Amino acid sequence: MERYAGKVVLVTGSSRGIGSRLAVRFAGEGADVVVHYFRSAKEARGVAAEVERLGRRALLVRANLSREEQIEHLFEQVGEGFGRLDVFVHNAASGRNRPVSEIDAKGFDWTMNVNTRALLLGAQHASRLMPEEGGAILALSSFGSERVFPNYGSVGPSKAAVESLVRYLAVELAERNINANAISAGAIATDAHKHFPGIEEQWAEIERRLPYHRMLTADDVANLALFLCSKEAEMIRGQTIRIDGGLTLPIP
Ligand SMILES: NC(=O)c1ccc[n+]([C@@H]2O[C@H](COP(=O)([O-])OP(=O)(O)OC[C@H]3O[C@@H](n4cnc5c(N)ncnc54)[C@H](OP(=O)(O)O)[C@@H]3O)[C@@H](O)[C@H]2O)c1
Repeated sequence: MERYAGKVVLVTGSSRGIGSRLAVRFAGEGADVVVHYFRSAKEARGVAAEVERLGRRALLVRANLSREEQIEHLFEQVGEGFGRLDVFVHNAASGRNRPVSEIDAKGFDWTMNVNTRALLLGAQHASRLMPEEGGAILALSSFGSERVFPNYGSVGPSKAAVESLVRYLAVELAERNINANAISAGAIATDAHKHFPGIEEQWAEIERRLPYHRMLTADDVANLALFLCSKEAEMIRGQTIRIDGGLTLPIP
């Protein structure tokens, strides 16, 4: 199935982890892809090569999403390279992983800027590049937006704001046929975890508690993303869809 033939998709943070898989899966369904990265240039080139192996065009753009002018530059490159954008996936995230009593203003601002403000500014730029028939915006969240994880006191609030922002985008951009939703994913083993103290023990605990006995993968998230950004999901608007294999259902 080629649901995205002729479409252009931008996935922020597609150099690694979930984002890299999203980029390849959108390409697998016919999309040309903007592979965005910040520090992982080599990995991003690998993802772009994979997109091209699938017969699609890839545009590689570097931008630090904590910086307003670099976000502007990213979308200028998209406009110059493809002349349009159909799907904007804000997947990139960063954070100061420490207890709330140790998070300073700089770290909090950094987290909010990369995770949340980049969605706002990105959605503004993206909507200007979207054709008259509309498009889709998708943000990656986590259930740290409403639950409390150790060392997650900057990222959790940034994700709560992401989920709220998605509701506003969905309502205010509906007139222009632009849909917006978020995916709140359970734990997936990516590099993101290596910065969390004690993650090995938390992994073991997650595995033990999962009602459906397999860990979530980036492909599970991609399956949902491909649906949510398609016409088939046009009546799902401003929602945060949880995908966690049932992890959060039982009372601990
Ligand atoms: N993994 C999980 O268990 C899990 C669970 C729920 C939700 N999520 C969400 O899913 C998304 C992807 O997670 P992941 O685990 O795949 O993350 P990851 O492996 O840590 O990758 C993060 C990505 O964000 C980019 N990035 C970080 N700081 C940036 C900045 N300042 N400017 C631009 N790009 C920046 C990185 O680019 P470079 O490497 O090129 O710098 C990288 O591509 C995130 O929004 C995360 O919160 C993940």
